[in-house]
Amino acid sequence: MTHEHEEDDFVVNPSDNRPFTDVLKVHVSRRDVAKGSLAVAATSFFASSDASATWGWWRRRKRKELIGFTPVPVAAGNGPVPTISEEYEYSVLIPWGDPIVPGGPAFDPVRPGNAAQQAEDQKHQVGIGHDGMTFFPRWKRGRWWWYPRNDRGILCLNCEFGINPRVMGKSTPESLDDVRISQHAHGVTIVEIRKKNGQWETMKSKVARRIHANTPVEVSGPVAGHPLLANAAHNEPAGTVNNCANGETPWGTYLTCEENFNGYFGATSPDWEPTEEQARYGFDNDGFNYGWELFDPRFDLSSPDYQNENNRFGWVVEIDPRRPHKKPVKRTALGRFKHENAAVTLGKGGRAVVYMGDDQRFDYVYKFVSESNAWSMRARGKSPLDHGKLYVARFDDDGTGEWLELTIDNPAIATRFNDQAEVLTYARIAADIVGATPMDRPEWISVAPDGWVYGTMTNNSQRTEPNAPNPEAPNNDGHILRWKDTDRFTGTTFKWDIFILASSTRETENVFTDPDGLWADPDGRIFIQTDGGQPDELNNQMLVANPKNGDIRRIFTGVTDDEITGIAVTPDRRTMFINTQHPGNGDPTATNFPAPTDGVTPPRDATIVITRKDGGVIGS
Ligand code: FEO
Ligand code: CA
Ligand code: CA
Ligand code: CA
Repeated sequence: MTHEHEEDDFVVNPSDNRPFTDVLKVHVSRRDVAKGSLAVAATSFFASSDASATWGWWRRRKRKELIGFTPVPVAAGNGPVPTISEEYEYSVLIPWGDPIVPGGPAFDPVRPGNAAQQAEDQKHQVGIGHDGMTFFPRWKRGRWWWYPRNDRGILCLNCEFGINPRVMGKSTPESLDDVRISQHAHGVTIVEIRKKNGQWETMKSKVARRIHANTPVEVSGPVAGHPLLANAAHNEPAGTVNNCANGETPWGTYLTCEENFNGYFGATSPDWEPTEEQARYGFDNDGFNYGWELFDPRFDLSSPDYQNENNRFGWVVEIDPRRPHKKPVKRTALGRFKHENAAVTLGKGGRAVVYMGDDQRFDYVYKFVSESNAWSMRARGKSPLDHGKLYVARFDDDGTGEWLELTIDNPAIATRFNDQAEVLTYARIAADIVGATPMDRPEWISVAPDGWVYGTMTNNSQRTEPNAPNPEAPNNDGHILRWKDTDRFTGTTFKWDIFILASSTRETENVFTDPDGLWADPDGRIFIQTDGGQPDELNNQMLVANPKNGDIRRIFTGVTDDEITGIAVTPDRRTMFINTQHPGNGDPTATNFPAPTDGVTPPRDATIVITRKDGGVIGS
């Protein structure tokens, strides 16, 4: 989520978990922390690679380098249209409001005097707030075997948020129909796409569907059926909101993560006060001023009929992209917090391991480990995401750390909660109790092929005490941390270091701040996407890093006031999909992208398709 709706910025963690400064009394200077880490390598490498004397050498070595493209210069990256490395090109796919299949209802944008999008149309159109996404290839039969296609697949796309003036043409809804426009613009968009005559396009498809704030869902795992999710209205569970980033399971399903769900709730009664638990999740009287509660009591925190509706949000939701009639499933074993993404890998014994960040200042990094082998669980009809242990991270000052289990079997947790369902529903509070390390807004996490797990800490302007894993106070630029678990991802201890402090790139050609989206590709490249005001008037951007030599290069910049987020690739990694989210913050005088620049057409969130002109692997 961006600055425009910076709910992430409020501090709702009242616990006092400050293990390094309070217990170890270590004051870590930025230089000490950077010592021996890539932060230093990156800076010094660029000091030399920027010098023209080394340029010829670099060109000669180019073929052997992991990253071989020409970076987008700082000076080029601040216009109303994107820029891309000269060896690359891009095209636009599925902007907000396009029909999900050809021939569906056409986009009817907000204009003066126009009622904007129609609620019914928006159900059949691409949502707004393009964020995390996954490409699930279709398969084709070869001579001997089946192969995943690089020219056709199902694209699952999160539609995180869209402010009322853009979506409904007014700041406050005046009817339930207005609310429905907004509700239908949120959620997940599933389209089937193909490459035809060199261009990607949507196609007629049985799997194309919209999942939005009113779509029936299932709840699974330890919290399913618990009184904490029951309402007096006896309404069936429905909807997903603020779908930030994503994950994909080894068994071919999509995970969508509910982030700032608190913002969609408000209270119509002035007497309403949040419970302690609601306050820990940031619920207040008017949320982000969507005003859904004004006409839809399900989102009214003061409605006696929907008292626990708010507990039904804040989960990781599993979607089967190939089974359009199967309901999305909220996987409660993964805990309830402001989920950024869910990085899934297979650990020792074939167990499913899921790394997750909770994007709020001073909140935590989590890990889930399934109880046994994922494939044998599935063969027995059990979801690996329903049975297992949830842990939260404590990063120790000496470069090691521990995963602390969030279980009702822990006496300290049992003094506060009655059962495991309560522990999971209020995972933040359980994590406070066990002494997790408060971080600088954990955003995306990605597992690299060498077993290092990378996580972006986007920024924290309110940190006053630095510690080893969050060494800057205030942390205005953000940093990327990495850790390596024992026992092939399943152990309870790990070592960690700082991959890069974004501040170390200041004054270089590779400058970036506010790292957010992140992907470690199978060759070892680290893709970094940004969300926040960039230095040197740069727009938000995507860069590619080589952890082995500290090389970082800017491959793409977005448009004025957008955010670059979401990474998906075809199996051959020769096509990449990324997103521009909230371009121009909707202001047509800032940018009209993806429409041609005319100063009046409202800009639209859109997917950007990236290819290398020579057909090479993206990032090379
Ligand atoms: Fe939706 Fe924390 O970004
Ligand atoms: Ca965002
Ligand atoms: Ca962000
Ligand atoms: Ca984000």
